[in-house]
Amino acid sequence: MSATLEQRRHLATEIPGPRSRELMARKSAAVAQGIGTTMPVFAVEAGGGIVKDVDGNSFIDLGSGIAVTTVGNSAPRVVEAVREQVEAFTHTCFMVTPYEGYVAVAEALNRLTPGDHDKKSALFNSGAEAVENAIKIARAHTKKQAVVVFDHAYHGRTNLTMAMTAKSMPYKSGFGPFAPEVYRAPLSYPFRDDKQVDGQAAARRAIDVIEKQVGSGNLAAVVIEPIQGEGGFIVPADGFLPALAEWCTANGVVFIADEVQTGFARTGDLFACDHEGVVPDLIVTAKGIAGGLPLSAVTGRAEIMDASHVSGLGGTYGGNPLACAAALATIETIEAEGLVERAREVQHLMLDRLHRLQADDSRIGDVRGRGAMIAVELVRPGTTDPDPELARAVAASAHQAGVIVLTCGTYGNVLRFLPPLAIGDELLVEALDILTTAFQEATA
Ligand SMILES: Cc1ncc(COP(=O)(O)O)c(C=O)c1O
Repeated sequence: MSATLEQRRHLATEIPGPRSRELMARKSAAVAQGIGTTMPVFAVEAGGGIVKDVDGNSFIDLGSGIAVTTVGNSAPRVVEAVREQVEAFTHTCFMVTPYEGYVAVAEALNRLTPGDHDKKSALFNSGAEAVENAIKIARAHTKKQAVVVFDHAYHGRTNLTMAMTAKSMPYKSGFGPFAPEVYRAPLSYPFRDDKQVDGQAAARRAIDVIEKQVGSGNLAAVVIEPIQGEGGFIVPADGFLPALAEWCTANGVVFIADEVQTGFARTGDLFACDHEGVVPDLIVTAKGIAGGLPLSAVTGRAEIMDASHVSGLGGTYGGNPLACAAALATIETIEAEGLVERAREVQHLMLDRLHRLQADDSRIGDVRGRGAMIAVELVRPGTTDPDPELARAVAASAHQAGVIVLTCGTYGNVLRFLPPLAIGDELLVEALDILTTAFQEATA
């Protein structure tokens, strides 16, 4: 982040401005339409809690590039580390001539992820690629094939991860056939479950489906997001994750936590599994790991991670030296700046304000989330019927007023907030004021 980037929302033109409109026309002509955009404004600079566009507009960032720039955009330590690395060398391929940065990232992941058992790591580029590799490793270890995922899950857009992802539009529709041996179990979704379905009961319901429809003798892995991301920031009831993990251990099934979105201080713990002391066999990380550079990882029990034969895992760019330098600087920033604690402060500020908003507005059915991963689920008053039109209207009005906010959820009715932890309280409060106005304007 440049020292001159003012931490102030500022609208210099209509949204989108003339330069962005020009670039959008070039995008439409040159970029495949399958690549969509949430806001039609083109960025030139970002840092702290601000994204600035080509027309001189400054937006308050409640998206972090989908939960990536947790330490902030162009965070000073990340910039310095990447600058040093880019001058030294940009690539050798770790599988050809290795370098220390990759090993240091693996050591850091082995130290920081849940559990004090012996661990090993392998590095990749994207979240989806790491999820795929976690499955490869689990299959090699168990010599079994089936994979269980959950309702509302999102694990990526590659062939295997499309099969694992729940939602058809826009992620899967027309792109099949999908990878076989992927089965879906019911989730714990407190807002939509009957009141008597606590975490234990929801786990029993899921385990029953798994035992009846798959069988542990065929099952290599259970993969779950400890808090679901794209599916709607669904926080399972307490006890759900520990019961599933326990069942996996007792039945020779690898328990894989997909912490691509929740990892690295985002939820007010270093990892979302830490909240209930759940220790996954394998944990998949990406997004917030490297301050915006593409990096992902699988970390887990050494004996599972070592199941693959030599050269069974890898890829040209996995653990690229620039991304590794960025990851080490990101981890240093999280530790030095107390960002886990900062995420809890953000949680407190946002939940307090959103609960007050909910008290006056029956269209806000649920307020949930942890740390700087907070959402509101919108419904038709007096029901739990999803209201995606309202989510779209509030988001559009926030965009026009200079706040970057994203929607998500199987029903498209969830507004999600993922501010960078480098954002100041004033900007957060201002963004919440704007959202309040957006709700008032979006009258039925
Ligand atoms: C939980 C989860 N898993 C996997 C992915 C896929 O990551 P990527 O987009 O880096 O492939 C995402 C991306 O949003 C995610 O949220």
